[in-house]
Amino acid sequence: MKVDGKHFRSIWLEPDGWSVGAIDQRRLPHEFVVARLTNVGEAAAAIRAMLVRGAPLIGATAAYGMALAMREDASDAALARAYEVLIATRPTAINLKWALEEMRTVLRPLAPSSRGDAAYARADDIAEEDVAINQGIARHGLSLIEAIAARKPGEPVNVLTHCNAGWLATVDWGTATAPIYLAHDAGIAVHVWVDETRPRNQGASLTAWELGHHGVPHTVIPDNTGGHLMQHGQVDLVIVGTDRVAANGDVCNKIGTYLKALAAHDNGVPFHVALPSPTIDFNVADGVTQIPIEQRSADEVTHMTGRTADGRIETVRIVPDGSPVANYGFDVTPARLVTGLITERGVLKAERAALAAAFPERIAAAAE
Ligand code: MRU
Repeated sequence: MKVDGKHFRSIWLEPDGWSVGAIDQRRLPHEFVVARLTNVGEAAAAIRAMLVRGAPLIGATAAYGMALAMREDASDAALARAYEVLIATRPTAINLKWALEEMRTVLRPLAPSSRGDAAYARADDIAEEDVAINQGIARHGLSLIEAIAARKPGEPVNVLTHCNAGWLATVDWGTATAPIYLAHDAGIAVHVWVDETRPRNQGASLTAWELGHHGVPHTVIPDNTGGHLMQHGQVDLVIVGTDRVAANGDVCNKIGTYLKALAAHDNGVPFHVALPSPTIDFNVADGVTQIPIEQRSADEVTHMTGRTADGRIETVRIVPDGSPVANYGFDVTPARLVTGLITERGVLKAERAALAAAFPERIAAAAE
């Protein structure tokens, strides 16, 4: 997608053919800074520190991290070490494990001398596949937006989204934002309500930034505003992303998603989840009880960072000294609250039978 009119992806192979470039998302929206990752330790640190974040991008970064590892040492021991270092970075997004297993499946049977090239080739493919998947999600999600637009000619379709499931969270296009970008590019009037998404503010800092650069009308709202807007007919559709979908259709996503689903249910607003197939975890039967929820540093809640009027980036404390803090990164929305899963193979019911029929190869892989 576009940054100041120029096309960017969130991650790429540098022209040197081996190091990896990525947008440093910790610096947005105030500064556009590109980071260069040169070894597996830097790739792991980038995921852990949320220089890169968002489930599909975490997976792509881990894949390139494996390639960087194989470039330095392609032994069996180094392969195992790289896997362990990368898998330990963040616990909730299943795309991390999916990408690492894809890499390991390709690399393990090869002689060490062939592993470097094969690792870069598979990492590049994982990045390209992510873009293709998101374009599929865009096409299927577009029909939902078109149907609403047809019912209210001359008025914008109001979509509410939470966190950042935009192109910054993927390699390009995003998942939740993909249908929005396609609709906007096709001339359909869309307007996005952007949840700020405390505590890290991925909505206010990242989603608003990317929608703004692409020219999509949007309004940033405090996290607690969605219910009020829904009660007053100002939300036509909710589309969120996800970090892991259980076999039963339960959806894990950024903390606060569940409350939006409850409000949507109470107000008869369709609640859709954009779901790339690597995010399905057929090994988890029940999302509410079995998906590991990341708990993050108290600092993210006790402090906020922003730009002062004279242009300095400063961090300030907003919670009294000594007050305990809880910082759960994600929550799980039960499948019964999900209207549909927008996948690259169509819009599915949030239930095991529909997921299994659409993605039989993922069930087979999970059983291995
Ligand atoms: O903690 P983050 O910023 O990695 O969380 C991101 C989200 O919750 C996204 O909604 C999810 O990863 C889907 S991204 C297409």
